[in-house]
Amino acid sequence: MTLIVLNFKTYRESTGEEALRLAKICEDISKDYSVQMVVVPQVADIHAISMAVKIPVYAQHVDGVGYGGFTGHVTAASLKAAGASGSLINHSERRLKLAEIEASILACRSLGLKTIVCTNNVATSRAAAALQPDFVAVEPPELIGSGIPVSKADPEVVRGSVAAVKDIAPGVGVLCGAGITHGEDLRAALELGSEGVLLASGIIKAKNQRKALEDLVTGA
Ligand code: G3P
Repeated sequence: MTLIVLNFKTYRESTGEEALRLAKICEDISKDYSVQMVVVPQVADIHAISMAVKIPVYAQHVDGVGYGGFTGHVTAASLKAAGASGSLINHSERRLKLAEIEASILACRSLGLKTIVCTNNVATSRAAAALQPDFVAVEPPELIGSGIPVSKADPEVVRGSVAAVKDIAPGVGVLCGAGITHGEDLRAALELGSEGVLLASGIIKAKNQRKALEDLVTGA
């Protein structure tokens, strides 16, 4: 089933009450169309959303630290307790060092949380795959928020990431993101071998978010 991961980032239109409203729309879309939607709100919104919807709720970031003196960090245990079932790791707006990425993956894995490691090109996709997350999501930073879909503007980075990841770790899934907005962008992403998309502004900043999501999933 096609996976659509909607990153709420820190947009006004997907914060607090608005985050809850958007998550409910995503749940409706998941029910009405044969797609698996995952919502990725800010940490403070995770608990309320996970209580209100049945679709998976992921965090935008997790640190590979445990209990103790780690002020300001986000632990996998706190995410799980809040109702999250996974996390993005190393998003281009929240980059980590390689050893930190591994620690975050291990912390999630030990608690049964899913992981999506974001990358920016084929080489980093290959490196991320070696750490065996559940998914690698390739997103060229220059296309993020541009409205120019990676699946059309840079098909090679998607095709190359799929090949590199499957070569290193065939069980790791591949997503792509940046500029994905319309059904045709999603369709192109799937044709390149990805299992779904990671997206944000095309939906969150749309005048009618529900309509934008319907366009995404029905045009594919
Ligand atoms: O995490 C998704 C993201 O970075 C892509 O953003 O706004 O180009 O869909 P956007």
